[in-house]
Amino acid sequence: MKQALEKIELCAREELAKIADPAELETLRIRFLGKKGELTAIMKQMAALSAEERPAIGQLANRVRSDIEQALAEKTAQLKAEASALKLREEKLDVTLPGKAPKLGKLHPMDVVMHEIEDIFIGMGFDIVSGPEVEYDYYNFEALNLPPDHPARDTQDTFYINDNILLRTQTSSIQVHVMENRKPPIRVLSPGRVYRSDAIDATHSPIFHQIECLVVDKGITMANLVDTLNMFLKRLYGEECAIRLRPHHFPFTEPSAEVDIRCFNCGGKGCSMCKGEGYVELLGAGMVHPKVLKNCGIDPAEYSGFAFGLGLERVTMGKYGINDLRLLYENDLRFLNQF
Ligand code: PHE
Repeated sequence: MKQALEKIELCAREELAKIADPAELETLRIRFLGKKGELTAIMKQMAALSAEERPAIGQLANRVRSDIEQALAEKTAQLKAEASALKLREEKLDVTLPGKAPKLGKLHPMDVVMHEIEDIFIGMGFDIVSGPEVEYDYYNFEALNLPPDHPARDTQDTFYINDNILLRTQTSSIQVHVMENRKPPIRVLSPGRVYRSDAIDATHSPIFHQIECLVVDKGITMANLVDTLNMFLKRLYGEECAIRLRPHHFPFTEPSAEVDIRCFNCGGKGCSMCKGEGYVELLGAGMVHPKVLKNCGIDPAEYSGFAFGLGLERVTMGKYGINDLRLLYENDLRFLNQF
């Protein structure tokens, strides 16, 4: 029994020396000192000893127990000290090191221009509204006076979800939603993404952005359209900006016009930038067609309105002198950081 006790002590010390994790310490304590532990098992056999043997063995057993307890306590303290030393080392902070400046993002040039345009219109009392990009044929075409098989649909070929649902080709679809849901006076500006089945080149992309303007009230005339355009474009491009209207056709406006802006490069004399025209095409506009008003539940005998739509890419490119539309989508920071 004496040997057994000495073996336990030796074994406990050996095991303890190997331990590096506080959780293992507890397992070890239970193994040697627990109720079902090795030492307890030996103590239970003490009853079988003779009266002469018992005191000496009892003494030894107690010593072994307190030795193991002490060794456990020492190991616990040692592990704790090691852990806190490690933590201190890991959390060491050198306040004299130079800081790392956070990289600040910035707005995309198209966002900058869009916010600028929105601000101009908010200043004129307009609401900014949006509409769905996945749209019913009705809102994108039919309500806008483009019935099925209308030839003008060919110029705006798009991506169809099914016969009835498509990706909108123009923000003019938002006009219909707005007129269905609001009563005049209506003054809204609607920016948004639009889709057309076009191949990508320097001036075309199957996804691009338009900004739609709609005003409906009593007594709205072409004069209000021209005045609003002048105010808007002079704020955007500066007082020297001049526009001209060319007769055009859109199924949803009557009369319709294309609005050109005087070439900033040559001042109207004609140069390579405006292809000798002196003016550059900027946007489509017109008086809301009476049929469109009627389709949206607004009486054309009482109300009239104007609308125009412009391409955000084109405006951004013109404003910053960007000559390839693809640059706007490539997310190349060397390009974007210039703005
Ligand atoms: N939706 C037309 C286009 O995409 C532009 C436009 C808007 C024309 C509003 C007239 C009135 O070409």
